[in-house]
Amino acid sequence: MKKHLFGLVVASGLLASCGQNTNGSQHKEDLEVEEVNLSKQISSTFDRANEQYKYMMTRLPEDKFPKTYHPKTDRFEASGSGWWCSGFYPGTLLYLDEYHKDEAIKNEALRALDLLEKEQYNTSTHDLGFMMYCSFGNAFRLDPNPAYKDVLIQSAKSLSSRFSEKVGAIKSWDSREGDFLVIIDNMMNLELLFWATAATGDSTYYDIAIKHADTTLKNHFREDHSSYHVLNYNPETGEVNKKRTAQGYADESAWARGQAWGLYGYTVMYRVTKDQKYLDQAVAIAEFVLNHPNMPDDKIPYWDFDAPQIPNELRDSSAGAIMASALLELSGYVDADKSEKYWGNAKEMITTLTGPEYIAAAGTNGGFLLKHGVGHIPENSEIDVPLTYGDYYLVEAMLRYVQ
Ligand code: GLY
Repeated sequence: MKKHLFGLVVASGLLASCGQNTNGSQHKEDLEVEEVNLSKQISSTFDRANEQYKYMMTRLPEDKFPKTYHPKTDRFEASGSGWWCSGFYPGTLLYLDEYHKDEAIKNEALRALDLLEKEQYNTSTHDLGFMMYCSFGNAFRLDPNPAYKDVLIQSAKSLSSRFSEKVGAIKSWDSREGDFLVIIDNMMNLELLFWATAATGDSTYYDIAIKHADTTLKNHFREDHSSYHVLNYNPETGEVNKKRTAQGYADESAWARGQAWGLYGYTVMYRVTKDQKYLDQAVAIAEFVLNHPNMPDDKIPYWDFDAPQIPNELRDSSAGAIMASALLELSGYVDADKSEKYWGNAKEMITTLTGPEYIAAAGTNGGFLLKHGVGHIPENSEIDVPLTYGDYYLVEAMLRYVQ
């Protein structure tokens, strides 16, 4: 559908410029060549991903999930199922199987789902959307097995248990100091709640998701439409005590992955509700990141848009992958000019991420696909390494592009 829309954009561009047929035809031909080249690059990246994930299986302890890999020491780091990233491994495998139809990949996805299933009862994290919807959500989409449905509904219940009427939001992190902490990343957990209302007819989940998104819209964004990372709310009054960062460069900076989560999150909000205010917010975030003077020409953001040593700062490939996937979807909801802009920028991001600078050579990178992710610089962890969510959102973006 998005490709079709982009075709219309190109066609309307040609009609509008009927006095310049030669230029118009040339533009169309250039675009076609670009699309063919990128489609080939994506196809070979899907092959590499399959190869890499089969290699990763040989490095992964049986009861664990991939977390990252340290190239200098050849150390593969794994996590338990309770880590916020555990769902990305089965989710990526399911996307790969959707593309390749490969029995070994599918069996590994099913094995990982079994290990993950118990997290449906986890009420100590807001990350159940990431963990359970990227995994069981995809599993149910591809195979509407009632057992998957039950897991997803229980996961939505567990996530909803963290909602506060007073604050109007789902609690992200538990805090010893007593503040009610909400991070922009939490926008990504709402899709699970929308799914649960659609599956059960119980509007409670939907209402929680709307309230959380509205509270975030009201408090998390600055005038320039960039977002804070963490908000400390007073749990008794719902007042904002503090606006700050945890993973970004500074409280007032624009942490790149945070902007990506917001962009993706409000795009999903519009998809589900068709409420214009969410589309306006997604567009405002897209314009902030794409027009930012510190956005590099190859469209892969530095880890923070305000990192002090730009251009001598690390890029975050995961932020690029999340933005690319979100922009492909957003391009289907906006007018022709914006559609061309968002589709074109997503294409540039995917082109860079599937090129040699970012894609791992076969049998390297611990089996991860994408290099150069940045997890948590202020904590000095996961710096310039592969990240499971980088792989997941790149594979999702490639799938969205080819579909
Ligand atoms: N807190 C999730 C992230 O690193 O994006």
